[in-house]
Amino acid sequence: MNPDISIRLMTVEDYPQVYNLWTITDGMAMRGYDDSSEGIARFLKKNPTSNFVALRGDELVGVILCGMDGRRAYIYHTVVRTDLRNQGIGKALLHAVYEAVEKEGIKKSGLLVMKRNEIGNIFWRSQGWTERDDLNYYSFKNAEQTEY
Ligand SMILES: CC(C)(COP(=O)(O)OP(=O)(O)OC[C@H]1O[C@@H](n2cnc3c(N)ncnc32)[C@H](O)[C@@H]1OP(=O)(O)O)[C@@H](O)C(=O)NCCC(=O)NCCS
Repeated sequence: MNPDISIRLMTVEDYPQVYNLWTITDGMAMRGYDDSSEGIARFLKKNPTSNFVALRGDELVGVILCGMDGRRAYIYHTVVRTDLRNQGIGKALLHAVYEAVEKEGIKKSGLLVMKRNEIGNIFWRSQGWTERDDLNYYSFKNAEQTEY
């Protein structure tokens, strides 16, 4: 990986830079409620060991979210800043998550990627993730204001 980059756990203080990175990235499916500062603070509190950022000095240049529910780990919103892609940063973020997931004793992980996200799909396949065509994904609104 690029030697100028370090990986560490994400904190709530990282939110403004993380949110900015998400919003400048093409193809991110942002959710107003889940991705608000309150939503992310709640997520980090529930999952204190499995969300990571990549830094170059003080600049936040990558992020990966992972939530664990005791059975599976689910990954969300993995992004590396455009000018620093293809230098192993995405892979390093993912390996930080693998380590956290292993410590929890969880054996299987999942994630969703938009079919039209060509780079995203290439990345996950390159990391050995299997595309499932034998199941349907269902979602349900538990509250009126929640987006899918
Ligand atoms: C997906 C993403 C996070 C990858 O980050 P990255 O730092 O560029 O990834 P890495 O440099 O660690 O690449 C890891 C592997 O992915 C593959 N890969 C990544 N980008 C690729 C591209 N544009 N074309 C071909 N292969 C690619 C390579 O096989 C690479 O392995 P290698 O270095 O052994 O050749 C980054 O492209 C990104 O932010 N994309 C936009 C957001 C997104 O789509 N996120 C995923 C959906 S949640």
